Amino acid sequence: MKVIEKTFEVTGAVSLLESQGKTVGFVPTMGALHEGHLTLVRRCAAENDVCVVSIFVNPTQFNNKHDLETYPRNLEADIKLLQSAGCDVLFAPSESEIYPEPDTRRFDFGTLDKVMEGAYRPGHFNGVAQVVSRLFNIIKPTRAYFGEKDFQQLAIIREMVKQYNVPVEIVGCPIAREESGLALSSRNQRLSAEGKAAALSISKALFGSVYLKNEKSVSELKAWVIDKINSDPMLEVEYFDIVDALSLESIENWDETDNAVGCVTVYCGDVRLIDNIQYGKFN
Ligand code: PAJ
Repeated sequence: MKVIEKTFEVTGAVSLLESQGKTVGFVPTMGALHEGHLTLVRRCAAENDVCVVSIFVNPTQFNNKHDLETYPRNLEADIKLLQSAGCDVLFAPSESEIYPEPDTRRFDFGTLDKVMEGAYRPGHFNGVAQVVSRLFNIIKPTRAYFGEKDFQQLAIIREMVKQYNVPVEIVGCPIAREESGLALSSRNQRLSAEGKAAALSISKALFGSVYLKNEKSVSELKAWVIDKINSDPMLEVEYFDIVDALSLESIENWDETDNAVGCVTVYCGDVRLIDNIQYGKFN
């Protein structure tokens, strides 16, 4: 695996491979890699001739300085994990490589970036769009892989690619979970043992809600999930909404869509955890 820090180097390496007719798969990350990231990397390596991963903790998507400063960083361990997952090129740029000048672009994704995470983390998705569009420009991948764990992010990236005609295929990948059901996240490292045990209530409530869907209205089911999670004194729901998977608009009745998704954000102490569940037509 090649580790590249410079933009011109990665652009040169990838364009050479593409000129040889090779497909280039790309997985953007912020490092502190775990099995969730690695499911994306393995799939990317299996579906493309070349697998490129980036590690860059993007300052423009953090609206909280403390969150940026405490974001876990562990490049040595990440390199080992990527080698074993089949990554060919790791792009690990410095901030000045990605932002030689401040990025002042303002994106507008309509409803998609205004609701849920967009409402609670103002500017977050603008920063995500800034960095991902820059990374796409630098790497020019054939396909790029994103996790459904960040359901809203995936919807926004698809919209950005559509709005700006970026020639890349976006591949969404299912949420990787621990055996217990807890969605894997870099932030889980910051949970105490008690916090981690409490956090299991999040996925339990989401999975439980799938079975109650046929008995409850949308608003009843929302209230049930929120109550279930909040009944643990260590947990506090920031929001739980049931939305249409494409428009991300809240639904009021189940018959409004065939693909509803329940998206939740929960504080466990000062650790902010997100998860979601899809309520397909047949469940
Ligand atoms: P990061 O949080 O490092 O996540 C990188 C990718 O891994 C994202 O597409 C995310 O959805 C996916 N991922 C994380 N946990 C996962 C899990 N448990 N199962 C499946 N996929 C999972 O998301 C970002 O970084 C950044 O916003 C980024 C897109 C890199 C832009 O800076």
